[in-house]
Parts: sequence; structure tokens; C-alpha cells
Amino acid sequence: MNKQAKPVRIHDLIDRKSRGQKITMLTAYDATMARLLDRAGIDTILVGDSLGMVVMGCETTLPVTLDIMVHHTRAVSRGARRALVIADMPFLTYQVSLAEAVRHAGRLIQEGGAAAVKLEGGRAVADVVARLVNIGIPVMGHLGLTPQSVHQLGGYRRRSDSEAAQTLEDARLLQQAGAFAVVLESIPDETARAITAELSIPTIGIGAGPHCDGQVLVSYDAFGLFQEFVPPFVKRYANLGETILSATAEYIADVQGGRFPAARKPIAK
Ligand code: KIV
Repeated sequence: MNKQAKPVRIHDLIDRKSRGQKITMLTAYDATMARLLDRAGIDTILVGDSLGMVVMGCETTLPVTLDIMVHHTRAVSRGARRALVIADMPFLTYQVSLAEAVRHAGRLIQEGGAAAVKLEGGRAVADVVARLVNIGIPVMGHLGLTPQSVHQLGGYRRRSDSEAAQTLEDARLLQQAGAFAVVLESIPDETARAITAELSIPTIGIGAGPHCDGQVLVSYDAFGLFQEFVPPFVKRYANLGETILSATAEYIADVQGGRFPAARKPIAK
């Protein structure tokens, strides 16, 4: 359990990299989960647009809107005391113009209470990253399998070795633009190792092997809540889906069998 109440800041993550200490990140979408992750001592909580799939039941992250992200980010920020809260910028909220990107990132910070935003892409978004960082909004990049480009990528497939040079170049550009960290999703371990060695900012891996400076998982995958499909790189740390199924069956049986609620003594006059 977490004994250190001092909030985690951006510079703490960069210090961790220089000291060789791994950074931990999980996703959360509501205050209760955020409070639990925070109490357990997680460094950073990502309000991922994965909520489109694991909370909203969509096939992709594309239907997630800025209003939805602000709503969930606000809930997570209420639950997190120590962990650094990072909010995903959803599809089409940062690609149209720099002015829109500033306004939208600003809402996640001002209304949502996030400390930083995350956005997907390399070269194509480097100017957006630079603009946000210039006005004081910390930005985390996201390279490799970028779920908002699912149609262009042709599905949620692991990126190949042949894309290594491009991914490394994109990572360099994000760092130059001022990103404080970069998520590497579903790329070969050796590509992640090379990027991690090259960058001075931390890399946070998901399906990118053990050489990254930190790791992130979607909490619904890690805790066995999302059962539609499980990405191959996920480690299950709990089976809460099964726990909820059996608890619900027990509740139904108790109510139907008249065992819950128990009769109460009449109130004495
Ligand atoms: O949306 C999300 O949860 C993410 C993580 C998978 C990194 O972007």
C-alpha cells in the first residue's frame, strides 16, 4: 500500500528514468477505481480512450468524444490523490487545427483536472505537441499501434520490425517537440529497447517488451473485467469478472430464495 502521499509530478517520471526505476501506469475511468489504484501506489493513471471499448461497449475508440473524456477525467481526478492523472485526447480533437487542439487539451486540464494529455502519432502531430507544451500543457506521445488509426492500420495488429526506423524517428520528433514521455504500443521488443536507449524522456510500454522505462495496462484487462478479447501481452492480475458473476448469481439466489434481506427487529417505541 502507498505510504508516500507526495503527489507524483512530471519531473519525478523523468528522474525515475535517470535512476533506472520503472514507472507504473494503469487506466481508470471512474473515481472508485482511481482511488483504489492510487491507494495501492500506482505512479500514473491514464484516462484512456480505451473506455470506448471497455466501458461504452464500442468496437473501437473512435466514437469517444471530448465531452465523454472530460466527464470521466473529472471522476478519476476526484479519486486520485497522489498519482499523476493523464487524459487521452480523443479522435479528431487535435488533428484539425492548433487552436482546436489547445482548446480541447485545455478542457481536459481545466474541467477534467488532468495534469497532462496524451495524443497519438509522431511527425504528423509534432507541431501540436510543441504548441501545447509551449503554453504549459504537458504532453505524452503514443506510437506503434495507435488505436485511433485502426482503419488505416488494417486492425489491431502488432507493428513489424520493418517499421522500427520510422518509429524511432517519430519518437525523436516527439521528444524534440517537448513530449515528457511516450507510450510504445505493440512494437517489437528490440525496437522498444532502441527507442528507450535513445530518448532522454521515459518510454511506457504496452505489448512492447521489458526494456521500456515503465509499463501500462488497461485495468479492465489486467483485472479480468473485460472478457470480449484479451490482447496476448496482457497479464491477468485478478479475475474480477468471474468474481462479479458468482457474486451476482449468489445475490439473485438470495433475493429469490427470501434470504436477503433478513427480517429486522421492529423499532422499540
Ligand atoms: O486508451 C488507452 O487505454 C491507451 C493505453 C492502451 C495506452 O491508450
